[in-house]
Amino acid sequence: MENKWEAVIKLCKSRGFMFPSSEIYDGFSGVYDYGPMGVELEKNIKAKWWKDIVHRNKDIFGINSAIFTNPKVWEASGHTSNFSDPCTTDKKTGIKYRVDHLLEKIGVDCNGVTDIDKIKKLFNDSKKLIKIEGVDVNDLQDPEFVNLLVESNLNKTKFEKTYLRGETCQGIFINYKNISNSINKNIGFGVAQIGKAFRNEISARQFIFRLREFQQMEMQYFDFPNKSRENFERFKKLSFEFLISLGISKENIRYKDHDNLVFYCKNALDIEYKYPVGWKELEGIHDRGDWDLSQHQKFSKTTMEFFDEMTKKSYTPNVIETSIGVERLFLAVLLESYTEEELPDKTTRVVLKLKPEIAPIYIAVLPLFKKENLKQKAVSVFNILSNDYVCLYDETQSIGKRYRRADEVGTPFCITIDYQTLEDETVTIRNRDSMKQDRVRISDLKKSLSPDLFD
Ligand code: GAP
Repeated sequence: MENKWEAVIKLCKSRGFMFPSSEIYDGFSGVYDYGPMGVELEKNIKAKWWKDIVHRNKDIFGINSAIFTNPKVWEASGHTSNFSDPCTTDKKTGIKYRVDHLLEKIGVDCNGVTDIDKIKKLFNDSKKLIKIEGVDVNDLQDPEFVNLLVESNLNKTKFEKTYLRGETCQGIFINYKNISNSINKNIGFGVAQIGKAFRNEISARQFIFRLREFQQMEMQYFDFPNKSRENFERFKKLSFEFLISLGISKENIRYKDHDNLVFYCKNALDIEYKYPVGWKELEGIHDRGDWDLSQHQKFSKTTMEFFDEMTKKSYTPNVIETSIGVERLFLAVLLESYTEEELPDKTTRVVLKLKPEIAPIYIAVLPLFKKENLKQKAVSVFNILSNDYVCLYDETQSIGKRYRRADEVGTPFCITIDYQTLEDETVTIRNRDSMKQDRVRISDLKKSLSPDLFD
């Protein structure tokens, strides 16, 4: 197999999973568009997360908050002052580089270091060892912090500056009181949300791994401070199980504790995925303590405390958070399922061995030839099945090429309509993984389309 990373990137474009944004205008780095297959896959991943995290837990509820907020939200949360990455600029080209990434490559860890003088020292002490193709390290300026919040001029009459949200969870924190009142619960509940976040990433690279516009699936659990450890363990486990249920293999995920914590965290770990470019953060599990609610209480002068009748004391809830990027997970799912198989005729078949539950297309409906009577029958089969399954009708090119295309996007079943169908109302069903074909009556089709046929 050629490099899997390159192969998946190529497949994303050729089979309509992901397109670079504004390609016909020379692009917009760090931004991508989902194509016809991508939009189905991401929808299925998000639906699975919603089902596993929200619907299957009686104490977790969903919301969908707006991208824009009063800019005070970001002052209170600490993002206007602390949400930044250290960067250095090449004097000659003006290109910026992440200092923590440059240092990491030579084995120096400055993650979570907030003192710019310490970073300058670490950087200057190891500058000689840093290598960037085509760059003279002596042209790299002293590190500085660059804020990641994306600014906007929306509502300029009222605010000098507004922001596109840098993380989805602030919409949950500022609604904590509304939510707790509406569900009649003070504590011991979680709130989940899926939505866009925006960051002015200094170096948006590595395909869709580091984006400037991306989606997060976040859950914040509000509880007594003394429950923080127990909740941390509960959501660490739930997150792990969710990844496994999507088909991610155990060997390709690991936990990594944080030595240096970001400003809002009391305790944190990353779930890392073994991307072909190295182990990298896929999800964060954070104990945010009462940081966010206390800050919003201070800035908004609205109480975020609740009174506990049992202990007769007031508390600001502790928050355990899980936060996973949709695109990082989407990429991990594609990498995990991408397979190349050598066939007896020595050709190579590319198959996405996706869990049927998340495959973009469940059934491809294919007339054997482009003959009017076969096409009509195939359309009628498509019309029956598309009430219950996501189907794709495909009549272009040879049947062999159509099977290959279906395999490349992970379609579990291909149903072929041939001349025998016109005589006896039977079709063939081809299984993506075994490539075995069975002949089945149209009226019995649904019994043969179970996701359990795939392990
Ligand atoms: N609310 C906490 C939070 O936002 P984070 O570690 O900054 O924490 C959480 O981000 C997750 O969001 C990451 O684990 C990653 O999956 C995703 N993410 C963060 N920045 C991203 C980016 N620039 N591009 C794509 N995904 C990103």
